[in-house]
Amino acid sequence: MTVRQILKMGDPRLLRQAEPVTEFDTPALHALIADMFDTMHAASGAGLAAPQIGVNLQLVIFGFRRNDRYPEAPPVPETVLLNPVLTPLGTDTEEGWEGCLSVPGMRGMVPRWTRLRYEGVDQYGKPVVREADGFHARVVQHECDHLAGILYPMRIKDFSRFGFTEVLFPGLDPAADD
Ligand code: NI
Repeated sequence: MTVRQILKMGDPRLLRQAEPVTEFDTPALHALIADMFDTMHAASGAGLAAPQIGVNLQLVIFGFRRNDRYPEAPPVPETVLLNPVLTPLGTDTEEGWEGCLSVPGMRGMVPRWTRLRYEGVDQYGKPVVREADGFHARVVQHECDHLAGILYPMRIKDFSRFGFTEVLFPGLDPAADD
């Protein structure tokens, strides 16, 4: 399996609407997902969307027990999610810090729905339906935004809370500074 190159903000391939996955449980799909996990783990990411490695499919992965880039975050179940649909539960939103492997070295305060339901299928075509809140809900929204060509800086309302990770979080492990 292979650690793939992660595209950075400014690359027009990050701005596309991703295409639905139509074939499941294929060797090519399993190999792609394995590469995505290798790539995410090599970068200590909390999640990764296929468009970030230049594959324009509606496919995201996320999850961790403990994450070096977000040491305060509670665990999020390891998830493979294809063709996702998100539905907010209630009208509450909350702000929280986000980074992105496609925007290395930066963090910003981003408003997101507090609670949501996410639905889609896994790599075998089996339904995935979950409700989430807090950081779990934030990660899902961040990753699924990539499928619509949206990067988190495009969601920031208050640019006084957008900056370099090393300045905003001087105690954070420098290895996690991406
Ligand atoms: Ni991202």
